[in-house]
Amino acid sequence: MRKDSIVINNNETFKLFITEEEIRKRISELADELNRDFHDRVPIFIGILNGSFIFMSDLIREITIDCEIDFFKLSSYGDAKISSGDVRMLKDLNCEVEERDIVIVEDVVDSGLSIAYIRNLIMQQNPRSFSVVTLLYKKEVAKVDFPIDYVGFEIPTEFVIGYGLDYAQKWRNLRSIYVLDPSSDGNASTTGED
Ligand code: IMP
Ligand code: MG
Repeated sequence: MRKDSIVINNNETFKLFITEEEIRKRISELADELNRDFHDRVPIFIGILNGSFIFMSDLIREITIDCEIDFFKLSSYGDAKISSGDVRMLKDLNCEVEERDIVIVEDVVDSGLSIAYIRNLIMQQNPRSFSVVTLLYKKEVAKVDFPIDYVGFEIPTEFVIGYGLDYAQKWRNLRSIYVLDPSSDGNASTTGED
């Protein structure tokens, strides 16, 4: 059953923001682009745990070209709603990156610190190419000096949950994406595991 809003701790209200149907449609469009752009390659799709696990699994099933899959697990520690930049690796890759086409799969690019950290790691290993696909992009706050190649939805600088994205580790299992109503008394945090 789809809820139109969710109240957490009696004071924080999250409103339905991007529906399951909208997500499914956009993922199919992103996959069309990826299938076309990499049709003569065998890219490695690298998901960033935990947040990207649902997006990754839905996206990858729309990919029709040969591909491989791996995961990074990162942890970032920060203030309420703000990533601190202290990004740590909790699980490294199992694949060889050299001369491969790497496509990072992210849930959301917020400050851009995580994706910059990952790009730096990957580039040291001489990939053939490096691309990023993110379901959500908070473009107004993201500080990146490289392209975010495939964007599902550009969103305002608000805190969102669902479809893999957590609030204090919960709510990842929501089928749609919900946004914190700024007028509710919110103190949502990204602290902990990504
Ligand atoms: P960064 O600020 O771009 O480094 O984002 C780091 C990570 O914080 C993302 O990959 C998400 O896992 C998490 N994050 C950022 N914004 C949100 C949000 O609005 N809701 C839930 N998690 C978020
Ligand atoms: Mg993430």
